[in-house]
Amino acid sequence: MNFEEYVKQNFDRYIHEMTEMLRIPSISTLEENKPDMIRCADYVAGKLKEAGLSKVEIFPTKGHPVVYGEWLGAKGKPTVLIYGHYDVQPVDPIDLWESPPFEPVIKDGKIYARGATDDKGQVFAHIKSVEALLKTTGSLPVNVKFIIEGEEEIGSPNLAPFIKANKKLLKADSIMISDTALYAPGQPTICYGLRGLCYMEIEVTGPNRDLHSGTYGGAVANPINILADIISKLHDKNRKITIPGFYDDVVKATKKERDNFKLLEHSDAKYAKELEVAELLGEKGYTTIERAGIRPTLDCNGIWGGFTGAGAKTVIPSKASAKISMRLVPNQDPEKIARLFTAHIKNLAPKSVKVKITSLHGADAAMAPIDSKAVKAASAAMEKAFGKKTVFTREGGSIPVVALFARELKAPSVLMGIGLNTENLHSPNEHFNLNHFRLGVLSSGYFFEEFSK
Ligand code: BES
Ligand code: MN
Ligand code: MN
Repeated sequence: MNFEEYVKQNFDRYIHEMTEMLRIPSISTLEENKPDMIRCADYVAGKLKEAGLSKVEIFPTKGHPVVYGEWLGAKGKPTVLIYGHYDVQPVDPIDLWESPPFEPVIKDGKIYARGATDDKGQVFAHIKSVEALLKTTGSLPVNVKFIIEGEEEIGSPNLAPFIKANKKLLKADSIMISDTALYAPGQPTICYGLRGLCYMEIEVTGPNRDLHSGTYGGAVANPINILADIISKLHDKNRKITIPGFYDDVVKATKKERDNFKLLEHSDAKYAKELEVAELLGEKGYTTIERAGIRPTLDCNGIWGGFTGAGAKTVIPSKASAKISMRLVPNQDPEKIARLFTAHIKNLAPKSVKVKITSLHGADAAMAPIDSKAVKAASAAMEKAFGKKTVFTREGGSIPVVALFARELKAPSVLMGIGLNTENLHSPNEHFNLNHFRLGVLSSGYFFEEFSK
């Protein structure tokens, strides 16, 4: 049996096993899911062993375990390090799920569950291509190492020390990552840039206790009103960010890149319609693709304070808070941005309130060299699997480890994602297209062949 036949004959089992993994609620940010994290790491390790890797190991960290696996039997051939994450985002708002997030359901060729597209399904594609090759040919065209972590969704806090301490173990000629999106269904895509992140929290405190809004209203600062004032001042009328110095270090996209983006098929009307908004909104002077990929942004991710239950309660709250994240582009330093943000917020806040600002986490933006041997091999592999020419994009999301890999392992990354940005990652009813999964398994196998040449 050859590789393709094996994939075909075992495809139902592949999906069944993916379902088992999707049943494990590996939410990295929640303390109560700690045992599930261990269970999920064990599950991944088990699949790597069954795939036929020669060494599989679970490394404990201060946080969630890292799963490692290797097959190094291709003497004289290059080594590929495959990175992915087995942790997932929380499921709330749970009421908006049409089926429970950890009870996978298949509908119209898509599998619905938290983590389906981000990133369990995508990780599975590589595990299963390795299995198919090892079971049919007894070997792989290249040496392969896996590093599947459990803390990506919380900023990979314990991965940096792990990588620094295990440079030899992780040494590779290229790093393969499937945790991004296809530009469109059926469209082979390599992503060559990711944004960075600076995630902050603001707490505004007014009076020392909640007050009757009739007896005190009008005489004292309301922290929610003040917080809203502050947030509203963070963009100007052109939707540029007003923090002094925010854009100082931005590396602008080249004309060639911007011209390339114009060649991608895109319709603002369709984009707006899919999201059910009457009109799109973003920074003046840039297209939608540019706004969501190559420009830095600032967004409020959560806001709370006062009375939020059903009905009315007349109260001026003592406190109001917001979580604000900024997506960064190459050369913007998350720590510097955090300092500029803090200074600006302090400056905007009137004396009538106190503000406390904390930095939650950050990630560097990353660019992957587009002309590396590995990218060329991945591009050809995807073309072979999908039967279409590969396009190159930059994505707005972040994968903290990509910049770290470039710095510590000095090997080029290839972002060969097979998800879709419309697959509700981080949102209710997350799903993953099973045809893309199949094409991803094939692409992965073809990549190993191409890269060994
Ligand atoms: N897989 C995503 C990142 C992504 C999604 C890149 C779509 C490109 C297209 C990843 O799991 C993710 O969600 N990252 C977080 C990072 C953060 C928690 C440090 C993000 O981007 O918010
Ligand atoms: Mn991901
Ligand atoms: Mn994610």
